[in-house]
This record gives sequence, C-alpha cells and structure tokens, in this order.
Amino acid sequence: MESQSNHLRRLAEQYGQGHLFRFWDDLSAEQRVELLDVVRQIDFALMDRLVDTWVRNEPAPEHFEHIEPVDVIPPVGPDTDPAVLEAGEQALREGRVATFVVAGGQGTRLGFDKPKGAYPIGPITGKSLFRYHAEKIRGIQQRYETVLPWYVMVSHANEQQTRDFFREEAWFGLEPENILFVRQAMLPCVDEAGNFLLQKPWQPAMSPNGHGGSIQALMEGGAIADAEARGITVICYFQVDNWAAKVADPWFIGYHCQANAAMSSKCHRRNDPREAVGVHCLCDGAYRVIEYSELDLYPQLLETDENGAPRFFAGNPAIHILSTAFVSHVHKHFDRFPWHKAHKKIPHLDADGAFVTPDKPNGYKFETFVFDALRFVPHPPVALEIPRRGEYTPTKQYDGVNSVVATRNNMAEYWAKWLEAAGCNVPRNASGACTVPIEISPAFALDADEFASKIDGGELDLARGIAIDADGTVTLPASKEAKG
Ligand code: UTP
Repeated sequence: MESQSNHLRRLAEQYGQGHLFRFWDDLSAEQRVELLDVVRQIDFALMDRLVDTWVRNEPAPEHFEHIEPVDVIPPVGPDTDPAVLEAGEQALREGRVATFVVAGGQGTRLGFDKPKGAYPIGPITGKSLFRYHAEKIRGIQQRYETVLPWYVMVSHANEQQTRDFFREEAWFGLEPENILFVRQAMLPCVDEAGNFLLQKPWQPAMSPNGHGGSIQALMEGGAIADAEARGITVICYFQVDNWAAKVADPWFIGYHCQANAAMSSKCHRRNDPREAVGVHCLCDGAYRVIEYSELDLYPQLLETDENGAPRFFAGNPAIHILSTAFVSHVHKHFDRFPWHKAHKKIPHLDADGAFVTPDKPNGYKFETFVFDALRFVPHPPVALEIPRRGEYTPTKQYDGVNSVVATRNNMAEYWAKWLEAAGCNVPRNASGACTVPIEISPAFALDADEFASKIDGGELDLARGIAIDADGTVTLPASKEAKG
C-alpha cells in the first residue's frame, strides 16, 4: 500500500492537488484505503484541463453565424399515419427495444436522503418513481408480449442504495435478469481557484459526470453488449424524476425506426422564452441543444413571434432514443464531448478541517450532457413534438414549479380524464381542477382506452380520491387527503 500511496500522492502533488492527503497521518487504515480508491479513479490530466479551461480562464462562447429553428414533426393526432405506430409496435413485439433511465444525479434540490428514484411520489400508495417506471415497463411487456430490458444508470454515490432498493422492492415485479445497473463516472468538485475539495478527511467531494456520462456507462457497464446479444437496436432514454415519461412510446420508436435514425428527441413547445429548458436549434447547420443557462449568449433564442410565443419553440424535455450502434460510435468520440461547468454550493472541509455548508456557490462541478451526442448524428435527427402536458413532469424539489406537489397535481389531472371517460364522476372545484388524489397503476392500464375497457367508472366512489393497483385492487384514502 505504501508504494501505491506514494505514487498517488506524487501524482496529486504534480497536479497541485497534494492537499487531498493533508489528513493522511490521522486516518485509520480503512480510511486510507477509501481515499486511495477514490484518488485512483481521478483522471488528473482531464481535471487539469477542465480547471485550466473553465476556472483559470473563461472560454469564449461558441460563435454561430446563423441559428435557425429545427424541423419538428407535429404531435401525434388522429391524422398521423398509422404505419408509424405499426413500425414502433413491431419493434417492441420483436424485442428490439430496451429502456434506459438516468438516475445517477445527486438530487440536491429535492433533499431526499435516498436515491431520487426511491422518492414516494404516489400520494395515496407511496409508490416510488422507480416503481411507477417499472409498472410502465410491465404494462408494455404485457401489451406487446415482449421483454423490455431496463438499463439503470447510477453513480458510485447512490449505486448501493439503488440496488438495495430494487431488491427490497422485489424488482417491482420485473425479472431481475432484465435489469442492468450501469455506473457513471464521478469527478472531483473544485473551489473557485481550481483546488479539489474534501468533504471528509478521507473523501474528496465528488460529483457525477452529468447525464452525458450515459454514453460511457452504457458502453463500459455492459449494456451495449447486452443489447447486442439480445438483438436490441433501440434504446429509449428518460430521466428518473420525470414521472410522466413514456418508457417506450411506440409512436416515437416508429418515427425513429422509419428514419433509421441514430438519435431522436422529443420536443415540447416552450411557453416562455425564459423557460428553464434547453432549446433545440440548428447552429450553422449543425443540430444543437442550447442549455437555458446559455440562452443569453444567443439572443435570437429569446425572440418571440407576433403572438408573443418563442420563435424557437422546441424545448427539450430530455426524452431521447439512441440506436445501439450510435452509442458505440459516439463512445469512440467521448473525449470530444463538450464539458459544462456549474457554479454550486459544495459542502467541504475548510483549511482547519471544519465542515462548512456554504450558503452561496463556492465552487464548480463539471458535467457532460447527453443531448450533446446530437452533434455526432450523421443526418438530422428525428424531433417529435409532444403535447405540453402529459409526458414531462419533472420533480426537482418539494414545492413550487417542477415539484412533488406539482407532479401529484398532474397525476390527478391526467388520470381524472381517464376516469371521466370511463363514466366516473370526478370531484372538481370551481376552476375545474380535480380536488382529490388519484393513482392508476400503469401495469393495470397504459391509456384511457385500456382503462375504460377494464373498469366501470359508474361504480367508483371518488369522494376522497382513489388508487387502482396493477391487479385492479382499489384503495380509498383513509380520510380526505389534500392533493399534494
Ligand atoms: P438534474 O440535472 O435535474 O439533477 O438531473 P439532479 O441530480 O436530479 O438534481 P439536482 O440538480 O442535484 O437538484 C436530471 C436527470 O439526470 C440524471 C438525474 O438523476 C435526473 O434523472 N443525472 C443527472 C444523472 O443520471 N447523472 C448526472 O450526473 C446528472
């Protein structure tokens, strides 16, 4: 161990990060092993490049002569060619599709002490985000008599807890051999001078390398090999905190397959040019998603039309399809993926070894974004518009915009329509909002028609709200629950 520790220490010193070892003499044998394990994984040369580019200097933003809106396929409606659906359904039936959730983030804003996917989002049942996604997978498997393997991206920080949660929940009724965890890489967090921060005397403060880390994780974690062995060509990407994401939308898959696309994206209409979502656009002819934090660099993206709607309307709800071959291809170019820096509050040990929880940003995390893979797509990707509501309900915090409360309200509104279509009387207030919590298991019904074919709505009592489980069991809340 001594020669190893000397080697790593010298490496850290060579890059000006020798302070990682400043508590070495006081550490126990286990703590020393832990520290060495983390330091061994650090790519010092990469970190030095990132600090040099982003902290010691401020790179000039990319300059584009022309930025134009992208061509977007209108939302699926009654006039959409049914051949698209048939193509997607055929891919599902033939077992050519896998689903992929990214769940390696830190979930800082939600402040939950378990992985975000374990959050009990169901207002009546307490079902977790992971369980909702799993029940959608079960619904798809039943409908298409297929297997939909599930790749789950975790980080070193939440992998064990996530695996334990899946086991405790008996894999949510799925077959464990069809679930594969892939781990993304983590990087040190740095202070405003570029020094790595420690969060414990034996633990550098680390953060996952962003959802762009998917490309490496899928490839290096064995998911692409698994997909190839199963004959899977289509990988449906979604984010764990989007309760409403369709885990394998046959229409979207159909468009992707018909175009033989490398990567496809869903888009939704931004209702405000300042809305906190990325924007799909063509920059000097190349497809890009510009993050909302960078909108001010490209003022065209803030322009509105004569009705006040954003001229660049295609917002990014972070729902994509990647072809298996494309992931292998992009993986070879991962070192060309752009990095982004985020100014964050990073808890750390100060010079005296005291733990500090900053109240304002004090350092940087570095991330890659999965949508930057779009720049490696050989021909224009498929961009499909989805309705504003229904598929994008991110849960970032407890209350307010994009919150637990907002998600539960969305659940109620979404399923209230199904219940009404099935002949049920849904309590609504004067402004038309549903006033009771509602949950319907996606393993029971994936859409309103399937629901109506299984339930006689006239027989249901919704006075206090309702939860319907995968096998049709009805649960009524014990006492009137406030939504949210
Ligand atoms: P966010 O960027 O919203 O981050 O991730 P977060 O970790 O969930 O929450 P905050 O910002 O710390 O409050 C969007 C999605 O991307 C995943 C997250 O798990 C979430 O599903 N993600 C993000 C990763 O899988 N890895 C990352 O490195 C970052």
